Amino acid sequence: MARATPLSPLPLRFLPFVVVVVVVVVVLGTSHGQTSIPRRYDGFTYGGAAAWDDSVVVEAFFDPLCPDSRDSWPPLKRAIERFAPRVSLIVHPFPLPYHNNAFLACRALYIAKKLNASSVYPLLELFFKNQENYYNGPTTNMSRAAITEDISKLAVRAVGNSLLADFLSGFQDSATDQAARVSFKYGCSRGVSGAPFFFVNGFVLPDAGSPLDYDTWEGILEPLLETQSGRAEL
Ligand SMILES: *[C@@H]1O[C@H](CO)[C@@H](O)[C@H](O)[C@H]1NC(C)=O
Ligand SMILES: *[C@@H]1O[C@H](CO)[C@@H](O)[C@H](O)[C@H]1NC(C)=O
Repeated sequence: MARATPLSPLPLRFLPFVVVVVVVVVVLGTSHGQTSIPRRYDGFTYGGAAAWDDSVVVEAFFDPLCPDSRDSWPPLKRAIERFAPRVSLIVHPFPLPYHNNAFLACRALYIAKKLNASSVYPLLELFFKNQENYYNGPTTNMSRAAITEDISKLAVRAVGNSLLADFLSGFQDSATDQAARVSFKYGCSRGVSGAPFFFVNGFVLPDAGSPLDYDTWEGILEPLLETQSGRAEL
């Protein structure tokens, strides 16, 4: 009787099967533990500008339900609008774990992006304007279903009033869940631990977690633009 040794070579006809098994194991293995690389760079570009093309890139990590993120938005927006297109902005949603509804709000931004790409920033502003309604205190007695319904009703004011049913079903779409998770994990990978957090050309700004006023933004951005163009043309 011939004994099979563990090292005996597999017949070649099993090779495709072995390759498939190895690929499946590798793919499953990496999709646990680690975040797989998303198809696009995380976040939302402001004004549709091509962020990297010869411009200073500002990245803001915002929690839509965080008061400091809200307060930091008007001066940042003013600065971006003043210096565009030589300065561009990417906002990354970053749901803080101690804001109970923040993940839903971040997810809502991705639902908005899917339904109407130009409604993402208007929705972010609606969240900033109405964020008290979604703080932990006022929502303690609300079910998650009631909160998502409330958020959806708010969101369609930006996305389009006819899209309420689509918006609600966006909360059942695992892709929007995944996108919000990627944003959170991406923030973690860059050392973000609060909101707002700002990076300029990839470098973190000091005073993380606090709003910056317009003059501070001007003071940061103007010298970078001078260096780029060789002269100040403001
Ligand atoms: C939540 O329900 C409890 C018990 O009915 C009530 O005492 C409390 O005031 C409610 N809180 C809010 C924010 O509505
Ligand atoms: C998409 O969103 C923008 C910004 O809120 C809005 O002006 C526009 O009407 C929306 N489009 C539709 C089809 O509702």
